[in-house]
Amino acid sequence: MKNTYILAIETSCDETSVSIVKNGHEEIATVVLSQIDIHAKFGGVVPETASRNHIENITIVLEEVLSRANMTMEKIDAIAVTYGPGLIGSLLIGVVAAKTLAFIYDKPLVPVHHIAGHIYASNLEKQMQFPLIALVVSGGHTELILMEEDYSFKYIGGTMDDAVGEAYDKVARVLGLSYPGGPHIDKLAHEGKDTYELPLPMDDSSFDFSFSGLKSAVINMVHNEKQRGNEINVANMATSFQNRVVEILTKKTMRALIKHDVNNLILAGGVAANRGLRERFKKLCREKEINLSIPHIKYCTDNAAMIGAAGYYAYKLGRRFGNVLKAKPTDQLN
Ligand code: KG4
Ligand code: ZN
Repeated sequence: MKNTYILAIETSCDETSVSIVKNGHEEIATVVLSQIDIHAKFGGVVPETASRNHIENITIVLEEVLSRANMTMEKIDAIAVTYGPGLIGSLLIGVVAAKTLAFIYDKPLVPVHHIAGHIYASNLEKQMQFPLIALVVSGGHTELILMEEDYSFKYIGGTMDDAVGEAYDKVARVLGLSYPGGPHIDKLAHEGKDTYELPLPMDDSSFDFSFSGLKSAVINMVHNEKQRGNEINVANMATSFQNRVVEILTKKTMRALIKHDVNNLILAGGVAANRGLRERFKKLCREKEINLSIPHIKYCTDNAAMIGAAGYYAYKLGRRFGNVLKAKPTDQLN
């Protein structure tokens, strides 16, 4: 069978990334240029700054990936690009770069939804088995997706307000930790004790989540203690917060697997790097004999290799956008 090489571009937030992926599972080369240091000073991503940095970085990253792969554009079969969701100014840079390359080199242009990318990150390590449920947890998303076959996505549930990573980053900020706060809270959560009485958010029979109430509970507790002149124990607060997050995410996901009679679980997105969440899912899945797949941390946070993996299946299905491809800040996964 002829090999298919996808050149993929991801610029939906603050990482400029280009990758070349073979046959939807083999990463040939990937470059990720993170802007975290630039945005950390502001405590979060500044959209205009992100967009300007993508403009400066995109051609450098593209040239670097071709050089690392020792390939020329002639060998590429199709260009895949994240068209949404994400920050519109950031998405546009990737989309314009992809359109330009597709036009100059006369290659098919394949649109990829960012969440499809996060799920297909799993395919870079082991072939995805269907039916599966994916829990996608990142700075912008908290979603449960059912897949019965390749590139078929059914939404089961998701957050009604803050994404889980967003809640991590906001809680970290109020605890005086730097951006992005998720990894700091995760580290501290392993050092502290669960001493703070925080609510288990949206503990109901649905498959939806809500993290803004939990986030506000932490913020209120921190403010109240400050007003009383008391110090917050940051490690204990991190442990208490992380325990609630892990408990509700695992509880609803395990219930979704039973309800849909599914044996394969993928944990995806930036928050899938969370040690507490990984450990709890590993234990539960071992007990219940669920086949769990969690991509390597480098594939959990935003990168173009995952877009190249998803892009291969979208390409095989004939998804094309030619010159009308538009960046979309919000869009349903389909
Ligand atoms: O997937 P990603 O790189 O970008 C989005 O699409 O949002 O996810 C970034 C998010 C941030 O909110 C960051 O704090 C969170 O993932 N994150 C973590 C951990 N590592 C990254 N959250 C909790 N624990 C971690 N270890
Ligand atoms: Zn992401």
